[in-house]
Amino acid sequence: MIRTIAIANQKGGVGKTTTAVNLAASLAAQGRRVLLIDVDPQGNATMGAGVDKNGAETTVYTVLLGEASMLDARVRAQGGFDLIPANRELAGAEVELVNLPDRETKLKDAIHTLKAAIAAVAEEYDYILIDCPPTLNLLTLNALCAADSVLIPMQCEYYALEGLSDLVQTLRRMQQHLNPDLEIEGLLRTMYDPRMTLSQQVAAQLERHFGEKLFATVIPRNVRLAEAPSHGLPALLLDRSSKGAQAYVALAQELISRHEAAAAAAPT
Ligand SMILES: Nc1ncnc2c1ncn2[C@@H]1O[C@H](COP(=O)(O)OP(=O)(O)O)[C@@H](O)[C@H]1O
Ligand SMILES: [Mg+2]
Repeated sequence: MIRTIAIANQKGGVGKTTTAVNLAASLAAQGRRVLLIDVDPQGNATMGAGVDKNGAETTVYTVLLGEASMLDARVRAQGGFDLIPANRELAGAEVELVNLPDRETKLKDAIHTLKAAIAAVAEEYDYILIDCPPTLNLLTLNALCAADSVLIPMQCEYYALEGLSDLVQTLRRMQQHLNPDLEIEGLLRTMYDPRMTLSQQVAAQLERHFGEKLFATVIPRNVRLAEAPSHGLPALLLDRSSKGAQAYVALAQELISRHEAAAAAAPT
């Protein structure tokens, strides 16, 4: 059973990329076959997984343009998972994918590009994670079209809920028009600081607001998670016992027990 999860929130700096890289490594550490697709032109997930974004010639950009397959583009990341890298070139994809006559249909086709590319490798993985850019652009729509579900990281700070209604509206429109089966995988509280009253209040507020849609696992603010990208490593490889690395291990376990228990219970 394969599960494709887009990690999205159009706010920047909420922990999307940190979640993508560390969840990928934690799922891999538990024996799951994982592919991480970086669809952010900033290429932070690529670098954080130990791959030089500027040295990568075949990237998600060449895949989206139909010039290479996922097989050509994928590389092995630090942390035991596969990666489709991204770099600044990808910023041009938005224009190129739709800059053709007959814009409406091209746009519709363009939205399905990633989904079509994923189909070619889907059998080889248990989990495919997609790290989205901090915008609701064509790249994010591609990810949402290809995904079974969306994981939404939210920073435990005062403005956590700001912009969430835009995202929810986009998800609704996706469900109506392009991907009726798209689910909310869950909201993830990130950068939680137990010493800060505000952090506790926001975490509690999110719990009242979202109840079951919230992951029980909370990701603490942890310096190892912030340092790991500069080493090109997931935190699990930098410092396995750190609170940050362990929180993502717990998140992976929560995800696995949720899906794999459901799959085992489902009639065959
Ligand atoms: N739990 C955390 N503890 C400490 N620093 C974090 C944590 N999560 C993310 N960061 C740091 O915060 C910044 C933004 O995180 P990032 O994952 O890049 O967010 P996004 O992808 O949503 O823009 C990065 O510098 C990252 O290292
Ligand atoms: Mg990011």
